[in-house]
Amino acid sequence: MMNKYSFTLIVIFGLLTAVLLLAWDQAVEVADTLLTVTMWSLVALLVLLPLGMLTLGLWFLSNRFIDNRQKWAEASLLTAQARQADKQADNLIITANPGEQVYIASDQDINRRSITALHLQRSYRSNGNGDSPLLHESTAWALMQHLHSTVNAPRNITHNAPQLPAGNPPETAAVLPQHLDLLPLIDGQSPSLNRVIIGQTVDEAGQLETLTMPLTEMVHVGMVGSSGWGKSVGVQSLALQLALASETLEMVFIDLEGVTSAPFQRLNRLRYPIAETEKDAVAILNDLKGEMDRRMSLFSPHRVQKVSDYNALTDVTPLPFIAVFIDEATSILENNAAIHDLLAQSVIQLRKTGVFLFLAGQEMSSKSMRPMIRRQLSSRIAYHVGDHWQAQGLGIGKEAVYLNTKGRAWTIFPGRQKALVQTPFVDAAAIEGLLERAGRAGKTPSTAMPTRAEPEPTPREQTILQMWDDNASLNQISKEINGQRGGTYNNEIKEVLKKHGVSV
Ligand SMILES: Nc1ncnc2c1ncn2[C@@H]1O[C@H](COP(=O)(O)OP(=O)(O)OP(=O)(O)O)[C@@H](O)[C@H]1O
Ligand SMILES: [Mg+2]
Repeated sequence: MMNKYSFTLIVIFGLLTAVLLLAWDQAVEVADTLLTVTMWSLVALLVLLPLGMLTLGLWFLSNRFIDNRQKWAEASLLTAQARQADKQADNLIITANPGEQVYIASDQDINRRSITALHLQRSYRSNGNGDSPLLHESTAWALMQHLHSTVNAPRNITHNAPQLPAGNPPETAAVLPQHLDLLPLIDGQSPSLNRVIIGQTVDEAGQLETLTMPLTEMVHVGMVGSSGWGKSVGVQSLALQLALASETLEMVFIDLEGVTSAPFQRLNRLRYPIAETEKDAVAILNDLKGEMDRRMSLFSPHRVQKVSDYNALTDVTPLPFIAVFIDEATSILENNAAIHDLLAQSVIQLRKTGVFLFLAGQEMSSKSMRPMIRRQLSSRIAYHVGDHWQAQGLGIGKEAVYLNTKGRAWTIFPGRQKALVQTPFVDAAAIEGLLERAGRAGKTPSTAMPTRAEPEPTPREQTILQMWDDNASLNQISKEINGQRGGTYNNEIKEVLKKHGVSV
């Protein structure tokens, strides 16, 4: 094609040049007009031809570039999808018949995948639902099998399938209940801080086990899950047990929606009225910080480091543990820098001074909660989550994606294996009834919140707070107060607002 065009162009070019040369030589008589037309055609050809070629070349190159970029993007997408499926495949719960071999792809990198023959763990044998695999499970499994046969996988697997231990064959292994009521579990028991019921699990021997933990070993608890899978009910069932426990204890609720904490309104173990506003939450956390400082200063003359050692002394008034429940904690922390700061500042002192956190939230990722708080959550409960990033901060997000029963959760508790647990259900009326019967519901709701521990705003700070309340922007306030705006000037205003519990 190009050759044909080039040939035509060369012929036209040649003819025009010939006409010009002949006219120059006066060998032929050429009309002036024809001469002018010929000359201009030649000039046009000489100019347009390289231009055209240049444009064509550029067009060709850019097309190739776009093409390559598209291919590259598609390849990246495919790799990402393969990695995602691959990661999920690592966490499938597989049910196999006795004697069947199961292979697990142990390396997440597709190119360096290694396939290991693994013996099914007994604790993973019954997960309480024998449904057929979901579409994404089958897809992930199919992908793994495909990779198994094509990438670095042993062609002939010669290991013998290990024998399953005798007794408790899978058919008779216990199955987690789909629903577990708390009341029968605590009926006739005397609730104690040493025996907080978390739920039921299937133990190593394939038997149903009621999982309990002492409060002091749980320390701080993080509970994560998508909306409607059981976080608030979980908070209530733990709080009820602490409320009924025979040991002394003070309890604190921060619950901006006011629903989870409602049945505890009249609990006589409440250290403060239930905090339903961010301002009250700040006041409470400030007061708790003051209490922790007070406790630390009580410890030092006795040279003790923690509340249990202090309480073991003979000549002191024992200090009660304080359990702090914060529902929708991560959304509060994301929206209110002052609360986030306060919690981060006190987190190290909490355990030593006997203050235990129960934080529930829809997301516990690195962006929703500072690492120094997340790292203190030594007990983790993950209900169903939409994707593993949601529970990434607690390290059990991948498994939690596959949960499909309300109240079912993957749990990690100090000193225990990761376990699948059916957490107990309890409703508001039952909580109120039990508190009433146990004589723990005497208190009439009080409106007195602790006074703020930090100093009252200075006149300058008052002006800033007033302007912010009047909807002035940071720039406007800074201009008014500092005479300058932007950058560090605005930051200084932000700090003042944060200090007084305003989220900017
Ligand atoms: N342990 C449980 N056993 C059985 N059903 C449960 C359990 N926990 C919760 N449910 C059911 O799920 C519903 C929602 O539970 P819950 O309010 O605890 O969800 P949530 O995770 O707090 O949701 P949100 O993020 O929207 O507040 C409950 O009303 C109840 O019907
Ligand atoms: Mg809730």
